[in-house]
This record gives sequence, C-alpha cells and structure tokens, in this order.
Amino acid sequence: MDNAGKKSLFITLEGGEGSGKSTLIKRLVARLTALGNTVVTTREPGGTSGAEEIRNLLVKGSAERWDVTSEICLFYAAREDHLYRLIRPALEDGKIVICDRFFDSTRAYQGQLGIRESNIIKALEENIVGPTMPDITLILDIDVETGLTRANSRNNIDGDDKEGRFEAKKIEFHQKLRDAYLEIARNEPERCKVIDATKTPDEIEEIAMDLIAQKFSISLKEA
Ligand code: TYD
Repeated sequence: MDNAGKKSLFITLEGGEGSGKSTLIKRLVARLTALGNTVVTTREPGGTSGAEEIRNLLVKGSAERWDVTSEICLFYAAREDHLYRLIRPALEDGKIVICDRFFDSTRAYQGQLGIRESNIIKALEENIVGPTMPDITLILDIDVETGLTRANSRNNIDGDDKEGRFEAKKIEFHQKLRDAYLEIARNEPERCKVIDATKTPDEIEEIAMDLIAQKFSISLKEA
C-alpha cells in the first residue's frame, strides 16, 4: 500500500509461542513515539473490555475446551469489537496502532485445522476485517522448541488463571503453526516480513525499525 501522506499506520506482530513479540512492541513504541508519533498498543484476543472478556473464555482452561469452529467465532467476535471500538477510531485519528496478534493468528492457529475452518475464516476475514488490513505485519520466526521453552518459563504459574491453553497443544501443532506463518509471508510478501527471532533484542529492534521505515519513510520522519 502506498502510504505517502498518510499519517496513520496499522502494524501487527505475529509469531508462535515465546517468539518475543512483547519485547519488540515495547521497543517499537519507544522509538516511534520519540519520532513524534502517537502510538496506541493493543492485543488480540482483547484490546477492549468486551474483547478482554472473550479472551478469558479463549485462553484459559484445557486445550480441548472449545471445538475449533466455536473458537474461530469467539476470536472474530472479539476482533469485531476491537476493530469497531478501538482500531478504526485510532487509525482515523491519525495514530499508529501496534497490535500484538491479529487475523494472521486465526489463519495460522485455527486455519491449519481443515478446509471447512479455512473457508469460515476467509468469509469472516472479508466481512469483519474488510479494508482494515495491516499496513505491515512483522512475523517473529523461531524454532518450535526454543519458543516453547521461553513461553513455558513465562507461564510457569499454577491455577485457573494460567493463560497456557494454546501453549499446551502438542509440538506438531506448533510446528504446523510455524509453517503456516511462513506460508502467509510467502503469499503476501509486501505486507508480511519475517524476522529471525533468535537474534538479540537490539538486532530485532533495528531490523523491525528498518522494515517500518522502508515502507513508511514519510510517516517516520521526526516531527
Ligand atoms: P497470549 O498469551 O496473548 O499469547 P502470546 O503471548 O503468545 O501472544 O495468548 C493468546 C493465544 O491465543 C496465543 O496462544 C495465540 C492464540 N490465538 C489464536 O489461536 N487465534 C487468534 O486469532 C488469536 C488472536 C490468538
């Protein structure tokens, strides 16, 4: 998309478990804010009070808590609310929105499970995301074992509040997930940029800023 003259930017971050999205988001916010931009950070599932309530239904409990179609509908109910109440208004206000996961997560996590699921996702994507496509999607790529080790140390708490429902899925699931992200990036190379998440946080930050600047040189100039 040609962003010349457009102030708002919609940046999404994607990746498997433990790929380091949160660390990168904090750094991007600092850098982009220092350049004079107003930056809004948000996450999926969640981002609005309604969507956060739906998040609790999705990320807690046993790995088999929902059948996949119900899960897709819940993710999209949360996404609709998030787009309507937070993402579109912020973009219309000329802000930079950085979202930790967005519709590529549904394609990668739920879409790998079958043709019917992919068709449902495609229809929801067209009707709910519609024209609000991310300007750039940074995919943090990491080998499955390293990612899961990182994520498990973070989620090492007991009780019902533990948000480990997706980490608890089998290793083959996470391998397919990684492949699904890489395929999305191959299919949409203009929007999606893959970053090697085994690099240091400083290196990842520089690569991400370069990719954003290459795409949006005008928006990133100092105020
Ligand atoms: P979260 O703790 O935010 O994971 P992470 O820190 O890895 O981003 O939990 C969100 C979980 O929900 C994560 O495992 C990915 C999953 N998810 C889907 O399966 N489909 C989706 O559409 C989204 C947005 C997330």
